[in-house]
Amino acid sequence: MKASMTRAIAILGGTGPAGTGLALRWARAGETIIIGSRDTARAEQTAEAIRKRVGANAQVSGMENSAACAAADLLVLTVPFAGQAELLKQLKPVIRAGSILIDATVPLAASVGGRASRTLGIWQGSAAQQTAELVPKGVSVAAAFHNLSAEKLNGDDRDIDCDVIVCSDDQNATQLAMELAAKISGVRAIDGGKLENARLVEQITALLIGLNIRHKGHGGIRITGLPDGAYRMGNK
Ligand SMILES: NC(=O)c1ccc[n+]([C@@H]2O[C@H](COP(=O)([O-])OP(=O)(O)OC[C@H]3O[C@@H](n4cnc5c(N)ncnc54)[C@H](OP(=O)(O)O)[C@@H]3O)[C@@H](O)[C@H]2O)c1
Repeated sequence: MKASMTRAIAILGGTGPAGTGLALRWARAGETIIIGSRDTARAEQTAEAIRKRVGANAQVSGMENSAACAAADLLVLTVPFAGQAELLKQLKPVIRAGSILIDATVPLAASVGGRASRTLGIWQGSAAQQTAELVPKGVSVAAAFHNLSAEKLNGDDRDIDCDVIVCSDDQNATQLAMELAAKISGVRAIDGGKLENARLVEQITALLIGLNIRHKGHGGIRITGLPDGAYRMGNK
């Protein structure tokens, strides 16, 4: 898939706060969104709620996750780590060849009963690398959006004070994820290098959660001091 082409974005697990928040922002930016869920009715309800918030021009529909994969070749994965591998194994036969999958999964210990301010050790190195092992050959994986607060995404269209670091072994996937990140007002996208760096970015979320608990906030991250060209941002 080429960067900047017209496309539908299928958000797998899009009924939760992270997926819904991204959908809301992208729908406001004019993107076509498919909310994916294990349950068609739940996906349709979430899609309807987003359409109500965005307005008559919103292009948002809801489908069961497999149907969403079959209908799009730009996929965003927003499910708890505990369900990630099983869902990907189930979806493998229907993920289209040449698709790009952007993984926002954070391997929080909370997903297996531990603390949200701790992460799990993962054999592959990161949740995103696990995803890369589980998707069909020829599907590119980028890791992004881990450090963006769903609470902020789901608020009004105010700027979000956070950078999004994108990691991938495929430059095309990096560019697409950066393009989508830059559509969220206030967000700057930064190329974070190889997919293996997702391990570090995923860990930052656990730190942010700990800080947010301690200070009762919704903190994000900013990377300072890079040349202007390293930051990609929208028009706002
Ligand atoms: N919340 C945040 O601020 C935030 C920020 C950045 C990244 N993230 C990461 O993004 C992911 C989603 O976060 P979230 O807060 O939206 O999570 P969530 O509400 O717990 O889950 C999102 C959706 O995933 C589906 N799901 C739940 N368990 C599943 C399973 N075992 N198998 C397949 N699907 C399952 C559910 O949709 P259906 O029941 O409709 O299928 C649910 O609505 C997590 O990995 C999280 O670490 C979250």
